[in-house]
Amino acid sequence: MKKKIAVAITGASGSIYASLLLQKLKLLEEQLEEVSVVMSDNAKDVWRYELGHSDYESYPFRFFAKSDFMSPIASGSARYDALIICPCSMGTLGRIATGISNDLVTRAADVMLKERRKLILVTRETPLNLIQIRNMASVTEAGGIICPASPSYYSKPTSIEAVAMTVVDRVIDLAGLSSISYRWGESKD
Ligand SMILES: Cc1cc2nc3c(=O)[nH]c(=O)nc-3n(C[C@H](O)[C@H](O)[C@H](O)COP(=O)(O)O)c2cc1C
Repeated sequence: MKKKIAVAITGASGSIYASLLLQKLKLLEEQLEEVSVVMSDNAKDVWRYELGHSDYESYPFRFFAKSDFMSPIASGSARYDALIICPCSMGTLGRIATGISNDLVTRAADVMLKERRKLILVTRETPLNLIQIRNMASVTEAGGIICPASPSYYSKPTSIEAVAMTVVDRVIDLAGLSSISYRWGESKD
């Protein structure tokens, strides 16, 4: 069964994670029925600042404005398999944790939780305050997955992209997609 995946990009540092995620989803298109994308205003600003371009809408996916509550991802009836928020700001985390569905990103997250579908938050902040930790606990208790943008190094990545890809590979696994990536124990060295 092909999957329907929604991606929300918010204004945390780490646009590289969003960019690599969209690239990877494009490569996995045979497994996908649909990819829908929504970005916050700050996500666009941070993307331009960190990556030096604004090619985020060049991907062959459905893009929706963050104010577009007519979008399919605003309704449980559209039956998306997973919503990946990457990167996820602490502001968006807080709004999700407290049920403030005031834009398409937080409404889509609300929908995934109420429908008991997969919600993956690639959070990025350090250090964390108690409010943020409690918000992560609330989302986890409600069925969401907190997947911090915390790269691994045991695959010995040699570029910034390879480091960031260690996070994106985990996200792809969590979303239930098949992909070839470094697997501990399968390595020859
Ligand atoms: C360059 C830049 C980097 C930022 N990095 C982070 C971050 O890593 N984590 C975070 O929670 N907010 C970060 N922020 C702040 C968020 O963009 C801000 O809280 C915003 O209100 C989040 O709104 P959004 O979730 O709707 O995008 C950053 C802002 C800028 C301009």
